[in-house]
Amino acid sequence: MTSSKLMRFLPLRKMKSTKLIAFVVIFVLVLVGYSKLSSTKETGPMEAKDNILREFNKADSPIDVMEEIAQLKKKVLELEKGTKKYPETKFLNYKDRKRILITGGAGFVGSHLSDKLMKQGHEVTVVDNFFTGRKLNVEHWIGHPNFELIHHDIVNPLYIEVDQIYHLASPASPPNYMYNPIKTIKTNTVGTINMLGLARRTRARLLLASTSEVYGDPEVHPQNEEYWGHVNPIGPRACYDEGKRVAETMCYAYAKQENIEVRVARIFNTFGPRMHMNDGRVVSNFILQALQGQPITVYGEGKQTRSFQYVTDLVEGLVALMNSNYSQPVNLGNPDEHTIMDFADIIKRLVGGDSKVVNKPAMQDDPRKRKPDISRAKLYLNWEPKVQLEVGINKTIEYFRNELKSTKFSERLNTF
Ligand SMILES: NC(=O)c1ccc[n+]([C@@H]2O[C@H](COP(=O)([O-])OP(=O)(O)OC[C@H]3O[C@@H](n4cnc5c(N)ncnc54)[C@H](O)[C@@H]3O)[C@@H](O)[C@H]2O)c1
Repeated sequence: MTSSKLMRFLPLRKMKSTKLIAFVVIFVLVLVGYSKLSSTKETGPMEAKDNILREFNKADSPIDVMEEIAQLKKKVLELEKGTKKYPETKFLNYKDRKRILITGGAGFVGSHLSDKLMKQGHEVTVVDNFFTGRKLNVEHWIGHPNFELIHHDIVNPLYIEVDQIYHLASPASPPNYMYNPIKTIKTNTVGTINMLGLARRTRARLLLASTSEVYGDPEVHPQNEEYWGHVNPIGPRACYDEGKRVAETMCYAYAKQENIEVRVARIFNTFGPRMHMNDGRVVSNFILQALQGQPITVYGEGKQTRSFQYVTDLVEGLVALMNSNYSQPVNLGNPDEHTIMDFADIIKRLVGGDSKVVNKPAMQDDPRKRKPDISRAKLYLNWEPKVQLEVGINKTIEYFRNELKSTKFSERLNTF
């Protein structure tokens, strides 16, 4: 339409200039309003998907959304079809197959132990109250005919039929066991009595997951099993240290009085995939801080030493001890000793990035030195750790990298 026609069509000629301006402004506003309205129209599924992907990619560190979605899709399809694939397991005949209970089996160590025993072809029952454990750690076995997961607190008695009991249930990291000290003591005392009672009724063999903390802040270095320890009975760690010491006492009391077969593993610091993100332990702290570009915090000067074993080495040791004829306590740990500052440097180097190491005040009753003497384990179990520190740390870094990715993904998902 030409402008003269437009003027004829609209009664613009008769309007005064102020009215004409007002008319033009209103006309433009109506046009803008209409275009906005049409852009907020319901989007089609493809547009919606694109919008979601665009939103996800606005995240601080972009994540591989398509890969995450593909994995979720696969899981949904598996669930819909009922064709869940389990890791491969051996077949054991009735004579060799054992009914094995793992208390705390949904935790870090317990879930790796479940993997080992399931793959060997045993029937595994995991009992857990999910205080620090999570279903996700054993999710890959749920539904398998040889596997059962029971939500239960071992402070209450449990009546099932078993041949062996791996008794691991107890919070293990300082922030977790200090969170509710009374519950920590109850789990290690009442819970252990309950499991020993179950062992007595079923005539099962029980292995206690004890700890190097029974040596406290040791005056003997390296620590062998003859050493009685140096523990503060009323310090902040006592609920755990003394809890485990009395749990050991109970095991040998039941062995003596009730003829129960017991095994006691004194476990030294262990690390690996499925450690808790926020358990405050050295390896997980350092890796997470380095991955997120945060300062790596070292308590005290960092001259205190620790020796860390990789979780699969520990699991091999636990199974060897359970099936051995040796009933005295056995240290399971890696004697490869490093200062905490060394660990900070190794992890920083393996993760890359530019995190700085910063020192914070030392923690109360933090042991200055820790290194196992593993002569007993070598002699009686023919066991020693095999996984090199850097190999284990790299696997753990990979695990935490994926955990951070999934956490970011879930956080973004929750914003929709
Ligand atoms: N990881 C180590 O470095 C280390 C070192 C020394 C000893 N240990 C011992 O090994 C065992 C396993 O340690 P982890 O590192 O796997 O710890 P974790 O916290 O990952 O696992 C402990 C499990 O026990 C469960 N649990 C706690 N209280 C319970 C209760 N009352 N009833 C039922 N379940 C309960 C938790 O939910 C969790 O699944 C613990 O007994 C710990 O003391 C571990």
